[in-house]
Amino acid sequence: MTFAEMWSELTGIGRIELTGGYRRYSWTPADAACRAWFARTASDLGLRTDFDRNGNLWAWWGRPGGGTGPAVVTGSHLDSVPDGGAFDGPLGVVSAFAAVSQLRSDGFRPARPIAVAAFTEEEGARFGVACLGSRLLTGAVDPAVARELRDHDGVSLVEAMRAAGRDPDAIGPDDELLAGIGAYVELHIEQGSGLAGLGAPVGVAEGIWPHGRWRLDFAGRADHAGTTRLADRRDPMLPYAATVIAARAAAGRCGALATFGKVRAEPGAANAISSSVHAWLDARAPDDAVLEQLVTDIWAAAQAAASEHGVTVSRRRESVTPLVSFDAGLRERLVGVLATAGFSAPVLATGAGHDAGVLAARVPTAMLFVRNPTGVSHSPAEHAEMADCEAGVAALTAVLADLATR
Ligand code: GLV
Ligand code: MN
Ligand code: MN
Repeated sequence: MTFAEMWSELTGIGRIELTGGYRRYSWTPADAACRAWFARTASDLGLRTDFDRNGNLWAWWGRPGGGTGPAVVTGSHLDSVPDGGAFDGPLGVVSAFAAVSQLRSDGFRPARPIAVAAFTEEEGARFGVACLGSRLLTGAVDPAVARELRDHDGVSLVEAMRAAGRDPDAIGPDDELLAGIGAYVELHIEQGSGLAGLGAPVGVAEGIWPHGRWRLDFAGRADHAGTTRLADRRDPMLPYAATVIAARAAAGRCGALATFGKVRAEPGAANAISSSVHAWLDARAPDDAVLEQLVTDIWAAAQAAASEHGVTVSRRRESVTPLVSFDAGLRERLVGVLATAGFSAPVLATGAGHDAGVLAARVPTAMLFVRNPTGVSHSPAEHAEMADCEAGVAALTAVLADLATR
């Protein structure tokens, strides 16, 4: 099966006509359709599909624990942000299957097992915690806390997993599965235009900026928009707005990034002052100390603005990933293999989060990036040329062949 064939079978799932973006949230019907596609594709390639205890998908070529050494795993995720692009996540999964298909037709016989993985809730778009599937797998999030996570409609992870036929009581770290993995290589569309600027179709990741999400809850008092004097208002929208401006200024001061991309005003009446505003801060920085300073500064600004307007504010950390430096030996090995395969692959850092960044705490991990001509991502406008996707498959095929040879 070619990359283009597999790609075209997946691209209709969870696509919203109106926006051209994808809404593939974990444990929803769109997610189930993506999972069915995964199992079908794996089976067509002669791979055996397993769920792990956290609902992540694994398609095995060879028996876990068999062969001359621990498995070589490749993959990414199939869930999306609201109205996300087609490539963020799925490119890595489809490329992984395409690389296996290429190895099979080349007659390659892996000395160690190869697996294709698709991790659950990488974007945290439904339950708020980014990389939830890989964090549960590695023990980076407490399963008891995860069970209580709720989506926008108040549905808990427990309820969502049960409705999808999975057992939420089983979630948690899986040391046995991790011990059987020798390397994880995630291919991903670049979420920036570094490769485009360098004229390279494929690159290798150096590391990931520390980043995290915090929910800020501003609570004021609902009142009439037409009769409440300005001096009498306790309007949570005002400190929220001041915090957005302060976050932008703080990020500019320290060479970091801060974004409010999600906000909810309650009760949401056009002719009433809000009773509360819930806002999500996404903050990223070149190192852990700068990230901490950035978040401290934004929180101080939020508290000061809240008190000025007679509003209370509280915050909750949803997920934080410290600085990730991918395994240097594995990275060098990839660069060498790619050079032999005819790719001059630049090494790039990124501010985007990935399951590879979470797994890096437990297994040697590396990433390949595929050129994104505009750099746009988390948007329906995200794009990669088919020729570059195919170059990515060729690069991943060479890497898997090398890693699974001995
Ligand atoms: C994932 O794509 C993230 O960086 O938020
Ligand atoms: Mn993403
Ligand atoms: Mn992604």
